[in-house]
Amino acid sequence: MNVSVFGLGYVGAVSCACLPELGHDVVGVDISPRKIELINSGQSPVVERGINELITAAVNAGRLRATQDAFAAVRDTDVSLISVATPANDDQTPDLSAVLTVVKSIGEAIAAKEGHHTVVLRSTVQPGTTAERIAPVLQASAGRRIGERLSLVFNPEFLREGSSVEDFHRPPQTVIGSLDPYGHEVMDRLYHGLPGAVVHTTVEVAESVKYLCNVFHALKIVFANETGTVLKACGLDAREVMRIFCQDHRLNISPAYLRPGFAFGGSCLPKEVKGFLTLAHEKNVAIPTIGGLLDSNAAHIERAYRMIARDGRRKVALFGLAFKPGTDDLRDSPLVVLAERLIGRGFDIAIYDNCVEISRLLGKNKEFIQREIPHLNRLLGDTPAAVLEGAQIVVVGHADAQARQAVIAAAPGKRIVDLSGYADIREAATDFDYEGICW
Ligand SMILES: NC(=O)c1ccc[n+]([C@@H]2O[C@H](COP(=O)([O-])OP(=O)(O)OC[C@H]3O[C@@H](n4cnc5c(N)ncnc54)[C@H](O)[C@@H]3O)[C@@H](O)[C@H]2O)c1
Repeated sequence: MNVSVFGLGYVGAVSCACLPELGHDVVGVDISPRKIELINSGQSPVVERGINELITAAVNAGRLRATQDAFAAVRDTDVSLISVATPANDDQTPDLSAVLTVVKSIGEAIAAKEGHHTVVLRSTVQPGTTAERIAPVLQASAGRRIGERLSLVFNPEFLREGSSVEDFHRPPQTVIGSLDPYGHEVMDRLYHGLPGAVVHTTVEVAESVKYLCNVFHALKIVFANETGTVLKACGLDAREVMRIFCQDHRLNISPAYLRPGFAFGGSCLPKEVKGFLTLAHEKNVAIPTIGGLLDSNAAHIERAYRMIARDGRRKVALFGLAFKPGTDDLRDSPLVVLAERLIGRGFDIAIYDNCVEISRLLGKNKEFIQREIPHLNRLLGDTPAAVLEGAQIVVVGHADAQARQAVIAAAPGKRIVDLSGYADIREAATDFDYEGICW
């Protein structure tokens, strides 16, 4: 393929160095004459392991050149990758001015072309940017609509500076969001030969994945440093603790606990977070991120309450009361907190949880619920149907398959507030008023 790369910084230079190896002819475009000079003389504009050799080889093979002439670069290629910077504005939103300038000039060059052209945004932008900000500028300047000899794609870059050439050759995955189906096809051809999964999705999801990756990486570093500082204050070597911690690929370094849904609770997580905060306090170590966990969790419960309270209907069927399905442990259950909040604000609630039977509760569990919801017996229904009877709002905390079928059957005319995201309820939700907590 013939590819133009706009912006010859860290991301663009690596594309220029590596795409020729996949068999493509590449032209780099930048406003910096120095960067163009460097590429044309076979040198890299950025310092990266292994990049100079690749650029030299590609230039010598006639597969790579650079220019300031954006018009000619678009005219001579089928695909344009945009990797100009998106620095932060004063309000911390990404500054799109360089991206929009480039998109406009690419569009103007497309307007003079007959054939199909694919524009690929690689710069990191907020979810919604490609469709709402980039597409209108591209379509207006190109004088054609996406789908009519024009594709617009968002393809996030996951490379890490320092190992970016290796990261190009071994991407964790290739995520392609396209506004039209042909854009996906073009990108499959562009990256043909690279290992790893290729994921086709919407531009908004692709934009969001990139943001989440970097926020998560930052969160992991802060977690390691906050816990590490507390452990050091306890006379321990946090590196050894984290080494063993990271060996658990089932619960720690895994998708476990990364499912958007309702708040955490139960007899362990809240207690241990509080215990660790106390330890940090005793050792005089500030850990603001871990210190914010309980507030964040409480805010999530409040969010669920506001979703329920918003439309003014007062009769609520709540499915699930224990802190997770398959247990009758009610201690520190966020659903108990939510139920209390609803009762306290005068909602008329009925609760179904197939694992919770008041007569069988014992010890601390019984004490807890008697203290928190003294009249729970009156609120618990024996069957899903009994709880759904007369309900205006159905809140799904968790529910077994039989209860979910009952919810789906009774849903028309009611409002469903879903805190869990069961696939069967979501799929049936076209027939009724449905809102998920994170979707
Ligand atoms: N650096 C990374 O490790 C990395 C990784 C993934 C994603 N990203 C994202 O990729 C984007 C680019 O990052 P970068 O670090 O490569 O940026 P950079 O600042 O190193 O390079 C940007 C380049 O764009 C050029 N440019 C600016 N305006 C231009 C125009 N009108 N026409 C042509 N070129 C123009 C600049 O001269 C510069 O060479 C950013 O959105 C960044 O967030 C960066």
